[in-house]
Amino acid sequence: MKIILWATLTANGNYARSTPAHPPKPEALADFAAQVGAIGNFIVGRQTFQEFQSQPRRSAEDAGATFARADIVVVSRSGEVKGPTVVGSAQAAVAHLRERGHAAALLAGGEQLHNAFLAEGLVDELCLNVAPVLEDAGLRLHLPPGGFASLRLLASRDLGGGVLQLRYALAPTPRSGAIA
Ligand SMILES: NC(=O)c1ccc[n+]([C@@H]2O[C@H](COP(=O)([O-])OP(=O)(O)OC[C@H]3O[C@@H](n4cnc5c(N)ncnc54)[C@H](OP(=O)(O)O)[C@@H]3O)[C@@H](O)[C@H]2O)c1
Repeated sequence: MKIILWATLTANGNYARSTPAHPPKPEALADFAAQVGAIGNFIVGRQTFQEFQSQPRRSAEDAGATFARADIVVVSRSGEVKGPTVVGSAQAAVAHLRERGHAAALLAGGEQLHNAFLAEGLVDELCLNVAPVLEDAGLRLHLPPGGFASLRLLASRDLGGGVLQLRYALAPTPRSGAIA
């Protein structure tokens, strides 16, 4: 199953935070809804899921119906969330969607969960939206200490509103000591 990490970055390379004062760009949200519609699922960390639930709908677009049809998998060790499918690990989220017959999974965040998937080598593609904003030191997408991965640019697209989307394939990370 192909796993696509979908995230918005700031122009200074941060993993963009979403707050009521600084919500995500509508163009990025519309792209997320379109990709959920096409793929039919998303995997999300407990914190981001609860933030998502607590936010008012920001647009009249039919994203609510798209999400209602999607398989939503919340990852949480504590299980402190009610409603959709809740699993205890990244691997369990992938196994759940595979059992449900999905050919691809969209990984929606947040920072902790995205980095957990990267650390476990579970990401096949990155779909990164660079938003025209700057932040403070902020959050980061990263590999574990010493990690390095080559990316292959698959596509770039202007989403409008100053948001540029870069899609990359993530080459498998060579194991330490392996001959390239
Ligand atoms: N830039 C973007 O595209 C984007 C997208 C989404 C969110 N965000 C931002 O990211 C921030 C939230 O990120 P976050 O890191 O605080 O929260 P998060 O990753 O959404 O959720 C963290 C929680 O998910 C569970 N979890 C994460 N990794 C796990 C693993 N490997 N195994 C089992 N459970 C796991 C744990 O839940 P329990 O505590 O219940 O065990 C953990 O406390 C917010 O600022 C939000 O606005 C940005």
